[in-house]
Amino acid sequence: MLVNLRDMCAIAEQYNMAIGSFNTPNMESLRATIIAAEETHLPVMISHAQVHEPIAPLDLVGPAMVALAERSSALICVHLDHCEDLSYMRRALEMGFNGAMYDGSALPYQRNIENSQRAAAMCASFDCGLECEIGSMGDREAGERDEGGTAEESGAIYTDPDQAAEFVASTGLDALACSFGTVHGIYKGEPHLSFDVLRGIRERVNVPLVMHGGSGVSNEDYHKAIDAGIRKINYYTYGAKFAGEAAADFIAAKRAEKSDSLIYWHDLTQAAYERYLEVTIDIMKVFANGCESVA
Ligand code: 13P
Repeated sequence: MLVNLRDMCAIAEQYNMAIGSFNTPNMESLRATIIAAEETHLPVMISHAQVHEPIAPLDLVGPAMVALAERSSALICVHLDHCEDLSYMRRALEMGFNGAMYDGSALPYQRNIENSQRAAAMCASFDCGLECEIGSMGDREAGERDEGGTAEESGAIYTDPDQAAEFVASTGLDALACSFGTVHGIYKGEPHLSFDVLRGIRERVNVPLVMHGGSGVSNEDYHKAIDAGIRKINYYTYGAKFAGEAAADFIAAKRAEKSDSLIYWHDLTQAAYERYLEVTIDIMKVFANGCESVA
């Protein structure tokens, strides 16, 4: 059943948890994420990143996301991730997306404010909550990088708590993505999160906070971040990596049995699906921060 971004964040606040937001650029990730929510009885966000357009066109994947969310018993927000183009956002809202992120973090501050205001006005005419970003996580959710780095190496700019307060007050957004040490993709070393930055933002800003670049953070740091006000965690790279490895393992096992074994596409996607489902269930339970189910 559809629950919009604002109501999702309210649930997360009530249970002191974070809602997992998972990119779903194919049928396997979409199906696995929804089944993970049904099996765990936890709310979830299924998310389409604009940068995934070449592998998952919005016109194809968007209606499927909305239809599967509507008919599921789980609480689901259908979310647009890292949208940099307001006409693209309008197309998603017209399809029934009920969460959207406008990402103007690479723009000059004033233009980020102006475009975020336009996004807020657009979302207000649909049943859609708006997330915006200030500061920068550095590299974008490209889905094709196989090596990330530290926040500094990725060109991240930590969110300034005072600027965050001004940004929230002037844009009318519902959730704020902030940069405090996470990056998209695989970390080369241990991520070092700045909880001082996060707490500084929390003290000045009264909207739910969002962590991007969720893959690779320790469970302890997820929980510290949730306790400091993170209400939504974006997570994709590790699920995609483990699912890819499951497909590779399937090929290796088949070829070990018989060197000229035929490899069928549907067997690979099934192996990937099963692994993706396990990973998603496990991480959703971590993000639930002790909450066993949401009715
Ligand atoms: P990871 O791919 O690093 O998990 O981050 C996902 C994300 O932030 C999508 O917006």
